[in-house]
Amino acid sequence: MKLVTNKQNLQGTIVVPADKSISHRSIMFGAMAKGKTTIHNFLRGEDCLSTLEAFKALGVPIEDDGAVIQVHGQGLEALKSVDSPIDVGNSGTTIRLMMGILAGTPFTTVLTGDASLNKRPMARVMDPINQMNGQISGFQHTQFPPITIQGSPHLKPMTYEMPVASAQVKSAILFAALQAEGETVIVEKESSRNHTEEMIRQFGGSITVEEKTIRVKGPQSLTGQTVIVPGDISSAAFFLVAALICKDSQIQLTNVGINPTRTGILDIIKEMGGLLELSEIDEQNQSATITAQASELKSCTIGGAIIPRLIDELPIIALLATQANGRTIIKDAQELKVKETNRIDAVANELTKMGACIEATEDGLLINGPTPLHGANVTSYGDHRIGMMLQIAALLVEEGEVKLDQAEAVSVSYPDFFTDLMTLLPGGAV
Ligand code: S3P
Repeated sequence: MKLVTNKQNLQGTIVVPADKSISHRSIMFGAMAKGKTTIHNFLRGEDCLSTLEAFKALGVPIEDDGAVIQVHGQGLEALKSVDSPIDVGNSGTTIRLMMGILAGTPFTTVLTGDASLNKRPMARVMDPINQMNGQISGFQHTQFPPITIQGSPHLKPMTYEMPVASAQVKSAILFAALQAEGETVIVEKESSRNHTEEMIRQFGGSITVEEKTIRVKGPQSLTGQTVIVPGDISSAAFFLVAALICKDSQIQLTNVGINPTRTGILDIIKEMGGLLELSEIDEQNQSATITAQASELKSCTIGGAIIPRLIDELPIIALLATQANGRTIIKDAQELKVKETNRIDAVANELTKMGACIEATEDGLLINGPTPLHGANVTSYGDHRIGMMLQIAALLVEEGEVKLDQAEAVSVSYPDFFTDLMTLLPGGAV
């Protein structure tokens, strides 16, 4: 696909698509709970639709009138076995969280995915859940999908110190802990997104969190709720950065989720001198309008505890750094290597092709800026966030074309990304 290039003066308002993490969990909690769960603003991206279809396959009545989704939960005990493998496509959140949910069922389920998902590490979930008496195994004694979850109705609690900062791993253990008899204690390496903890409370469950220690006593039953999904700050990030790096631009993003475990990018933008303004802050729904405008940027160092708070935004932050004065260091981000693609290599390779001064390291990236970008043939590697980052990069290209291979990957989290971009362009067209 030929990308939009050489644009300045981006203006307008984007209603950011719904949060992917919360959308997945809204279906999962709805399926585990008893009673009706009504979901407003569910993200109709491919990943979340994989979760929806998986729970339908497991016998959960889910109605979708195109606007609102209703999950008629009857508790975990009502899930039904499925004969054939459930294909969850590209979605790491679906497969990993479902391992925790299905660990305690009285039947066996096989979960599989696309070529990228089937190469992603699953031992990080399998090992702790198997310590709880789970019986989960990978394909031919590996840790990779297809994953077989032989339900084991006698899950036992455990104390687990997490070796990686991962909300997916934490959430899978929490889902298993809700089914185990006794108290499970999880100690996080660094605090990661806390949507699962918040939704356990929202659905009537009990959980205590003290700094990095989380305690859940099982078994617990949950009750259906109404969920209003806020916009995804990880999707907003692309247009925030577009506004900051394209001359004379100002973009307003409405209904952006601002859960503090997700807002690392806002802290970094401010540290780099980016001009941001939050308004219409809704404390209860943890959402706000964010306005960003073209800014003079300086480099910074990004590492440590902030990494899980901006892990999915690092590709677009790397692009931001190519336009900042000085050397930006991204470190402690080795988790990027096991995302939808190796995002350290993907970002370094593709932005280098476009003329950026960027180098991959063992745990991050080194970026010297500012550098002008030029045309190139690039690829998303089938990774939605790499694809969207490259389109924002292309806006800076004054000469030459940028052709993006595997552009369709953006549908995983932001199906309307390219059409939303069009509305911001001067004259509203290419
Ligand atoms: C997610 C957690 C993160 C993130 C992913 C969504 C979640 O993954 O990268 O896009 O919804 O829990 P890790 O848990 O692997 O860090």
